[in-house]
Amino acid sequence: MNGKVHIMLDKDYTVGPIGSRLYSTFVEHLGRCIYGGIYEPGHPQADAQGFREDVRALVKELHFGALRYPGGNFVSGYNWRDGIGPRAERPVRLDYAWSSLEPNEIGIDEFSDYAKSVGSEVMYAVNMGTGTPQEAGYLVEYANFPSGTFYSDLRIKNGHRDPHNIKLWCVGNEMDGAWQTCHLDAPDYGKKALEAAKIMKWVDPSIELAVCGSASSWQPSYPEWDRVVLEYTYDKVDYISLHRYYENLGNELDFLASFHEMDGFIKTVAAAADYVKALKRSKRTMMLSFDEWNIWYQAKTRLKQWEFAPPILEDNYSLLDAVVFGGLLCTLINNADRVRIACLAQMVNVIAPIFTETGGRAIRQTIFYPFAMAAQYCTGTALKVFSKAPVLESAAYGEVSSIASAAAYDEGRGELAILCVNISGETQSLELDLRSFGRVRWIEHRIMDGDLSAVNTFDAPDRVIPRSLAVPADALSMPEVPLPPKSFHLMRFKGEHPC
Ligand code: AHR
Repeated sequence: MNGKVHIMLDKDYTVGPIGSRLYSTFVEHLGRCIYGGIYEPGHPQADAQGFREDVRALVKELHFGALRYPGGNFVSGYNWRDGIGPRAERPVRLDYAWSSLEPNEIGIDEFSDYAKSVGSEVMYAVNMGTGTPQEAGYLVEYANFPSGTFYSDLRIKNGHRDPHNIKLWCVGNEMDGAWQTCHLDAPDYGKKALEAAKIMKWVDPSIELAVCGSASSWQPSYPEWDRVVLEYTYDKVDYISLHRYYENLGNELDFLASFHEMDGFIKTVAAAADYVKALKRSKRTMMLSFDEWNIWYQAKTRLKQWEFAPPILEDNYSLLDAVVFGGLLCTLINNADRVRIACLAQMVNVIAPIFTETGGRAIRQTIFYPFAMAAQYCTGTALKVFSKAPVLESAAYGEVSSIASAAAYDEGRGELAILCVNISGETQSLELDLRSFGRVRWIEHRIMDGDLSAVNTFDAPDRVIPRSLAVPADALSMPEVPLPPKSFHLMRFKGEHPC
């Protein structure tokens, strides 16, 4: 074994609470995410509303806190009224964002029902491109106002007596992006978002708003955009958004070190927000909504012209992608004090953990597993990870740690969960120091390692799955743990007596 890695955890040294919203996702009217993904009326497994039960079962395994909907770039040219009322009367529209045909068979009412059926809340993005602040207000009225007004009564007429009670709203999507329908510069967006936020909160003061931050850390306007937008909106919004996708551009170590870049992005946006907090003499700290993150081979994306549900952005993830993905999960958990919402983009087919055949099977992609493990076990409180590990020299980021790691202690369950990713090309030996936890019992150690190019397909759906390693039966024994090259790990422990 080459490197020695040391991790020390103390249950009194915490980062912050891990809410279910840290494990959220994103469902856009894009490609086969909805049509042919979650919804396919003719499919043998479709329910009465046309939602696929096989897909729903996989969605439930991922324990998503919130489902962000309906876009994405799509939303900046979308009229939400096209998606309500009798299906036969809904218009087919041109979706400018993805050059597709939008049948509008799914809208806010059906999607809210779907989210409820998988135990998640909706995070709804309003249109700040072609849309207006008043339209955003009407939409909040339609979704959340009890009754007795034009839009609340319209919702009731459309079959939903009870309000949807959507608490989380995005004030637009990636408005800094030149690709966005009716893209704006920072002062123009800041003013528009402020007016939309005022109306939306007048209609329902209990809602929480996420304003558009930078669409990526590579945007030329980053991080100035974030500062300017917050100077306009700070007092009226609750979160600033971050979006970031990573891909292997040829240098494998740079790709493996993506978690390091993500951490810097989060810290920079938090610093911009804290600057505005000081400027405004505000007592309120702005939280972050990392509402799009994943691995996406953007360079390979090819759009089709004006088709219904075209198979676009359908990346097939390898084990290497899953290992990198595990590092990104660690960074999100380590920043749980500021990042309160994080949406894996997206949920089905479109750069997603779940992949379907139209009319056929549904499988788990490699990235499904690290997410499912984190969402199920990294709950409770994020702990500070004190780690010592050899450093590596990345061409893109300079010196980076050879491991990514995160830890969560769930007091209710009396369980400690540790995620660890070895990004080096060598086996490293991990020594754990769990000091304040006293006597603990290993519950399990799951690992993903092996052929980094391996992928899951319909014919070999279990080619890449986690395997369990033997753990010591003796509660007191804490052996060194070998971390094979470029591997992902989940280690779980139970307190043997109150710590
Ligand atoms: O998730 C795919 C696209 O990525 C979203 O529509 C957009 O917000 C981002 O650029």
